[in-house]
Amino acid sequence: SKVLIINGPNLNLLGTREPHIYGLTTLADVESSLRTQAAELGLELDCFQSNHEGAIVDRIHQARLEGVDFVIVNPGAYTHTSVAIRDAFGGVAIPFVELHVSNVHKREAFRHHSYLSDIAEAVMAGFGTLGYNLALQFVASKLR
Ligand code: DQA
Repeated sequence: SKVLIINGPNLNLLGTREPHIYGLTTLADVESSLRTQAAELGLELDCFQSNHEGAIVDRIHQARLEGVDFVIVNPGAYTHTSVAIRDAFGGVAIPFVELHVSNVHKREAFRHHSYLSDIAEAVMAGFGTLGYNLALQFVASKLR
């Protein structure tokens, strides 16, 4: 089975960006740990990061052509603004986990609404970068 990890805007700064909120683990660390875990689980894994909304929409469309079975997405700030990313997921009908490194619900009110949560299989927030590994384990169990 094929799993795609999508990280949105500013997640390329993981590890250096507001470390009191997002921790010290870099995106490269997260992706390499996910690759190891995916190999152990017998999953094909692809990782994508972009700071551009349209590029994320394009990557979601491409996922359908590639036969991706599940997506784990951290849309960053687009979580709270993007009807386009919501519609892309609706359009390709690929199940996905919405993930946030921080607990968005204990932060500013504008982070409490998500355009994705009501169409996501599962939502994960506040587990730090460990959340990516927990989400991949969940996805593996769904695909088994
Ligand atoms: C985030 C939470 C968002 O509110 C924020 O805009 C981010 C990261 C998280 O991983 O906690 O960029 O998605």
